[in-house]
Amino acid sequence: MDVRSFCAQSRVLVVAGKGGVGKTTMAAALARMAADAGLSVLVVELEGRTGVSAAFGHATALAYDATILSAAGATVVEDGADPPAGAVPPGTVHARMITPDDALLEYLADHGMKRISKRLVSSGIIDVVAGAIPGIRDILVLGKIKQLERERVADLIIVDAPATGHAMTFLTSASGLLAAARGGPVRAQAADVVELLTDPSRCQVVLVTLPEEMPVNEAVEAAYRLEDEVGVALGPIIVNGIDEPPGQVGLRAAGAAARAGVAVDATTEAALDAAWAFRHGRVSLQAEQAARLATELPLPQLRAPFVFSATIGPAELEALATSLARGIAAIPQHEPVAP
Ligand SMILES: Nc1ncnc2c1ncn2[C@@H]1O[C@H](COP(=O)(O)OP(=O)(O)OP(=O)(O)O)[C@@H](O)[C@H]1O
Ligand SMILES: [Mg+2]
Repeated sequence: MDVRSFCAQSRVLVVAGKGGVGKTTMAAALARMAADAGLSVLVVELEGRTGVSAAFGHATALAYDATILSAAGATVVEDGADPPAGAVPPGTVHARMITPDDALLEYLADHGMKRISKRLVSSGIIDVVAGAIPGIRDILVLGKIKQLERERVADLIIVDAPATGHAMTFLTSASGLLAAARGGPVRAQAADVVELLTDPSRCQVVLVTLPEEMPVNEAVEAAYRLEDEVGVALGPIIVNGIDEPPGQVGLRAAGAAARAGVAVDATTEAALDAAWAFRHGRVSLQAEQAARLATELPLPQLRAPFVFSATIGPAELEALATSLARGIAAIPQHEPVAP
């Protein structure tokens, strides 16, 4: 399947998974991949982290208004440049952070309550409301995402979801509210959100995991819960942090040293051999876990390599995006992604 057809399957991709598995990095890599294929992309960040900006070579945190992370044909443009009125242009990546407070302010302003809205938020009333209506914060954020999806601000909206525990609450709160609220704007908003989440042509969840025993177990469990409790379609699963086989990185001591014309003593050779064996062991363990994941979760897998770099910047991001694109190319065109 080519990247454009893959991205055309649904307009919102929610990148989810356990804490620290690489959700933010993979959200950025998917964005890079889609923009490289000529699509317009909006990345939505929910927490005030800087990972997405940093991966695109920016130092600033995201704001409620969209920031251009990457312009068409170039890797990086200046921070804070105004997006062209309305939509994100093709081949570019914009990003914004959506918080419940900002989403509420905008909702109130859009509904003729601009003057009181600032005062309500600054007086902390949102916390009172949030205490009274569980899930309202999530609905405000998801409601805003739904609005952006309806307005078709970008070909693809990529949401960097919170870590699994919170992500389940985040994604189930709409159906919870729908069941609890009798009527009014909250119910209407919740109904719209449920509609978005349960329509595979509008929204899919891309789970990220690591090729290790516990993360694989948790990914399998999360996948079934997402399908059962949220009713959301699952896209391919990303297995992140895969080590390259040591043979390809020339770690094998004696041969590599000989080829490089370096004389190594016995201790060094033993240490290098041990490193090779360790790496080799890791690679086979990872392969085993990825294979187990494939049996327990019948979803196409996209694999992202472990990048040996202190930070993930534009160059590393491009490499990760290329790996994801390779994985997508291997998905048969007609096989439905959702099981
Ligand atoms: N493929 C990779 N190769 C090397 N380092 C990686 C890779 N993917 C992620 N990382 C690094 O691992 C760390 C965690 O990644 P990231 O922030 O994307 O995870 P996360 O799932 O978003 O975490 P959180 O749950 O805290 O939001 C970061 O330092 C990131 O740079
Ligand atoms: Mg993150």
